[in-house]
Amino acid sequence: MSNRVIAIDGPAGSGKSSVARALAAGLGWSFLDTGAMYRAVTVEALDRGVDVHDQVAMGELAKEAQMTTLPRVRVNGRDVEDEIRSERVNIAVSVVAANALVRAQMVGRQREFAAAQPLGTVVEGRDITTVVFPNATIKIFLTASLEERARRRDDEGEASVSRRDVADSTREASPLRQADDALVLDTTGRNVDDVVEEIIQCLKLKTLS
Ligand code: CDP
Repeated sequence: MSNRVIAIDGPAGSGKSSVARALAAGLGWSFLDTGAMYRAVTVEALDRGVDVHDQVAMGELAKEAQMTTLPRVRVNGRDVEDEIRSERVNIAVSVVAANALVRAQMVGRQREFAAAQPLGTVVEGRDITTVVFPNATIKIFLTASLEERARRRDDEGEASVSRRDVADSTREASPLRQADDALVLDTTGRNVDDVVEEIIQCLKLKTLS
């Protein structure tokens, strides 16, 4: 059992998933994509016809949902990996993620997951450095220009990326913001390996001191 956590936050397309995945692989740690969890709950609600604006119903659905994110995203026994990045989910997930009842369920599971990993966990999302793991071993905030982030999210389009950014940063429940003690890395024009290397150097310094 280990509580070592590398917490990574940032807006859509800032490189969180690619960096976190590569970092976890390099360290031999576990990886948790918390955005996939909010997306999986959203798919389940849309497919069951539950109104995503109904806060209590959505809280119940989140509480009951059985889910895993690796090797593929599954919810209540269904593989929803190919659905979670669809346009209808991109639109509805902002509403689902703004629901404090849903968030409480997801945060509990994220902490349980990390506590059960043998070495450590690289966790990425929007509230990981600020709310879920405020005492993480290291905290990273990734940014990149909107132009580059939209390019990385070519399927989604700049308007949708920008709309999600605004929704995620201005909501009342756990908005996306930079933690005071986070290392801020601008990934514009940088490749994944380069960013991963910088984080590993930072981790080495932290764990030696
Ligand atoms: O990959 P991308 O950054 O585009 O999005 P994601 O990480 O899959 O997250 C999808 C949505 O889930 C975000 O726009 C947030 O609304 C929400 N989310 C959140 O509120 N908190 C998290 N820890 C992770 C995701």
